[in-house]
Amino acid sequence: MSFSALPGAAASSAIALYARWSPELDAKLEAALERLREASVAHGDGLVQSSSLGVEDMVITDLIARHSLPIAIATLDTGKLHPETLALIPRIQERYGREIAVFQPRQEQVIQFVRREGEEAMFKSIELRKACCSVRKLEPLARMLQGRSAWITGLRREQSGARSDVAFEEDDGQGRRKLSPIADWTWAEVWAYVERFNVPTNPLHDQFMPSIGCEPCTRAIAVGEDFRAGRWWWEDSSKECGLHVKK
Ligand code: ADX
Ligand code: SF4
Repeated sequence: MSFSALPGAAASSAIALYARWSPELDAKLEAALERLREASVAHGDGLVQSSSLGVEDMVITDLIARHSLPIAIATLDTGKLHPETLALIPRIQERYGREIAVFQPRQEQVIQFVRREGEEAMFKSIELRKACCSVRKLEPLARMLQGRSAWITGLRREQSGARSDVAFEEDDGQGRRKLSPIADWTWAEVWAYVERFNVPTNPLHDQFMPSIGCEPCTRAIAVGEDFRAGRWWWEDSSKECGLHVKK
């Protein structure tokens, strides 16, 4: 998807720019909720929402909390997130009365990696960037998913060509079910939900960062650039960190 920002604008309300309640959104919302309900019944304590604290995940957390679904919510704090992203953790707790389980990388592994490859390793090669993602994201993800039979993501088909066939439910390649209940929502629909239900969001989305990851690896995008162009922008790669790549 190509994303349009106001030329020259430093910040603007993402709601004002994008929110549009489409004629299909009522039905899409009901269907997403039903998927969450069914998954909760099917998996019980085996189900977890993996939240990056990005806007899609905030919509899903709102659905879970608003409808009192007994689904655990967890996030991976890589140690490189923006302060604005981390600030959402207490905001979720205050707003919804829900605890967010925070998974951090093993400090010893991080220290060794940085000592060996440097703080700027991610810019040196794709291999080193992936190695950093492996230490800071994949290892804690494995712990987050330990003992779980299914996880919920905020993946949407519109986000990139590589994600155009994201299924509502699929095998994650590790024997678990991976659920993406709003896979068919558009960017305008995500923001329409945020506006209607007053969902807390990362203020960086108002600074033309539609997709937010770690601070060194995320930048704002310009007019006409792809939705994920600000992620690992120096790379000519498929722009995936491995969380959603089947083994
Ligand atoms: S990434 O692979 O490029 O980092 P992206 O930021 O688009 O992924 O997020 C896609 C989905 O992956 C999110 O909706 C969320 O389910 C999961 N995810 C990504 N980053 C995290 C994180 N830090 N903590 C937990 N889940 C995450
Ligand atoms: Fe490291 Fe960047 Fe991957 Fe974060 S996104 S884990 S800083 S390479």
